Amino acid sequence: MSIQSRKEEHVNLALSGKATFREKTNGFEQYELVYNALPEINLADVDTRTLFCGAQLLSPFLVTGMTGGYPNAENINRSIAEACAECGIAMGVGSMRAALEQTGSDPTFSVVRQFSDRVPILANIGAAQAALWHREGTLAQYVDRAVSLIGARALAVHLNPLQELLQPEGEPRFRGVLDAIAALIRTNNVPIIVKEVGAGITGNVARRLADVGVTMIDVAGAGGTSWAGIEILRRADAEQVNHLWDVGTPTAECIRQCVGVVPTVIASGGISTGTEAAKALAMGAHLVGTARPVLEAYAQGGTEAIVQFARNWELHLRQWMFIMGCSKLNDLRDPSTIQRIL
Ligand SMILES: Cc1cc2nc3c(=O)[nH]c(=O)nc-3n(C[C@H](O)[C@H](O)[C@H](O)COP(=O)(O)O)c2cc1C
Repeated sequence: MSIQSRKEEHVNLALSGKATFREKTNGFEQYELVYNALPEINLADVDTRTLFCGAQLLSPFLVTGMTGGYPNAENINRSIAEACAECGIAMGVGSMRAALEQTGSDPTFSVVRQFSDRVPILANIGAAQAALWHREGTLAQYVDRAVSLIGARALAVHLNPLQELLQPEGEPRFRGVLDAIAALIRTNNVPIIVKEVGAGITGNVARRLADVGVTMIDVAGAGGTSWAGIEILRRADAEQVNHLWDVGTPTAECIRQCVGVVPTVIASGGISTGTEAAKALAMGAHLVGTARPVLEAYAQGGTEAIVQFARNWELHLRQWMFIMGCSKLNDLRDPSTIQRIL
């Protein structure tokens, strides 16, 4: 199957309602935000702005990378970029491999460029691909093209060994990935964010990344979209691989393990409400990311529905910050604001 039709199939399966974890949750139900009966602030004092990749966001939210590379992806990326620009939040595009290995500009990605002066946009490549390009000596040149195609302020590099193992066309070759990431950090062309795709980055992995100079990690933990699930649905021999459907570390646990290991932790993976976003920030995350819920909003009502989704998150975050006595996000990112209840 061509990369283009695979990308389309991924989007359709993500929207099918079948691509979620079966038993595992994101773990946030084990935590409660701490109510403050003496907040000493007004609701109007609450300020959700934050700096990310040198830009000011109105709220600490990121739509993480999903798509590009087949005709309808242009509409999806345009809508997401438009909504993010309207709400002042960041966005990523999906893996850019197909666009980079061909010559010429790919409009399904470059469509977001027109919004890149208003929101930080993240380019995206796979870590296994980065390792291959590093061995071939072409990594820097591909990264330059990826960044300039969409006017990106940072590059997300995704770690997805579970997905590559299960994908029928997968390439489970992860030797040399850490070296390639180290090379990307050394060349220092653009900030690097290392992310998973829904199985989670643990504290141990974060420490190995930090050792080679990684400062930003998107944990993309378990509890939301199951990429093992998506790929299993695409296979004829599901019974051979079904036991891997729910593999991964729940998002809340990933955040707990990664905060303090690198300076910037992005919390994502099954976060679908403003309350869960507030919990992630209280646990020390800098930014909160979401993917599939935004795709679902797009499918229901295009740009307007994504804007509504993001505004609801912001509203709920503001409500929480007021009743917790936190006028700034830094006040929210304090261990006293959250407690374990289970
Ligand atoms: C349709 C779809 C396509 C995706 N494609 C990519 C990709 O190309 N690169 C990547 O880094 N992550 C990709 N992801 C993973 C998301 O960025 C995110 O890490 C994951 O879906 C978990 O977040 P969620 O539970 O909010 O969906 C994709 C997700 C979806 C739903």
